[in-house]
Amino acid sequence: MKKPNLAIVGATGLVGSTFLEVLEELDFPFDNLYLMASAKSAGKVITFKGKDYVVEELNEHSFDKDIDIALFSAGGDTSKKYAPIAAAHGVTVVDNSSAWRMDPEVPLVVPEVNPQDIAWNKGIIANPNCSTIQAMVPLKPLHDKYKIKRVVYTTFQAVSGSGLKGIEDLKQGLEGNDRCVAYPHPIAGNCLPHIDVFTDNGYTKEEMKMVNETKKILGDDSIKVTATTVRVPVFSCHSESINLEFEKPYELEDVKKILASAPGLHLVDDPENNEYPLARDVAGKNDVYVGRVRRDYSAENALNIWVVADNIRKGAATNTVQIAQLLLNEEK
Ligand code: A2P
Repeated sequence: MKKPNLAIVGATGLVGSTFLEVLEELDFPFDNLYLMASAKSAGKVITFKGKDYVVEELNEHSFDKDIDIALFSAGGDTSKKYAPIAAAHGVTVVDNSSAWRMDPEVPLVVPEVNPQDIAWNKGIIANPNCSTIQAMVPLKPLHDKYKIKRVVYTTFQAVSGSGLKGIEDLKQGLEGNDRCVAYPHPIAGNCLPHIDVFTDNGYTKEEMKMVNETKKILGDDSIKVTATTVRVPVFSCHSESINLEFEKPYELEDVKKILASAPGLHLVDDPENNEYPLARDVAGKNDVYVGRVRRDYSAENALNIWVVADNIRKGAATNTVQIAQLLLNEEK
C-alpha cells in the first residue's frame, strides 16, 4: 500500500485521541489524515505532529474522499451506520466498538494471536473487547501447546473503560461526592460486579463478550468459558485473574518460558520481591503483563495467572493501530 490516507472517527474521544498518540509513537505512515466526530465537535482544531487538523462532522458523504483506512471509536450505533458506508467506498474500517465483533463476516483480530484473519475481511475488521484482548495474548501460546479446555475469568476493570464520565465519577467520588453518572452506584470505595447491561442468562454483556470473543479469536468453539467482570476504583488498566484447565499436563517452568517469550507479553513474576504486574506500573504501556503464574492444585492440569494491560492502549487504541499496521504489511 502507498502511504495510506487515514480517517479517525471519534477523534475527540478518549480512545480516538489515544489513536493519535499511538500513531505518532509507532511512526505510522500516512499521507492525508481526516479527523471526524459528532456535529458538536465540528470545527475544533487538533494539532498532530505539528500540523493543525480541523475536526469534521461525520456524515453520509464523509467517505466520498479518497480514504484507505478508517479507525472507528465513536460507539456502536455510529459504527453500525457508518462502517458499511465506508466499506462500500473501498475504505478498510478497523472498528473499536462491539457492533461487528460477532458478525461471522467480520474478522476479530489480536495481531499477536490471529493476524491471518485480516485476510478475509470484507471492509470491516473488529477490534475485540478490551478485557478479551489482554487475555488472548497469554492464552494463545498456552492453547497452542497444551490445549485449553476451560477458562474462568475474573476481571478488575478501570473506570477509563467507561470513558470520561467513568473517570469523573471516580475523581469526584474520591473527593467525597458520590456522583453516579457512569454507574448505578458510587465507584469510589466500591467494587461493582456489573459492567454493561445484564442479559437474560444472568450474565452481563461484558461477561458474554469475553465468553464469545475468546472462542472466535482462538478459533475453537469447544473451549468452555465463564466470566465475572467487576468495575473497580482504578483509573487506568484492567487486571484479570485467569484460571485455566488444559487438556495436556504441563511443567510450570515450561509455561513460564512460553509466557516470557510470547510476542507483546512481559512476564513479571517474582513474588518473593513483591513483583507482579500492577495497574499503576502498566498504565501508558502498549504491551500486556503477566505474573502470579502458579499451579491450581484443585483441578487436573490447571493453572492460575494474573494479567494486566492498559485498557485504552492495548485494550483499544494500540490493538486497533496494530491491526492497521498489518493492513499496511499485507499490501506491500
Ligand atoms: P464528540 O466529541 O463530537 O461527541 P468517548 O468514548 O470518549 O465518549 O468518545 C466518543 C467519540 O465518538 C467522540 O469523539 C464523539 O464525538 C464521537 N461520536 C459520538 N457520537 C457520534 C456520532 N453520532 N457521529 C460521530 N461521532 C460521534
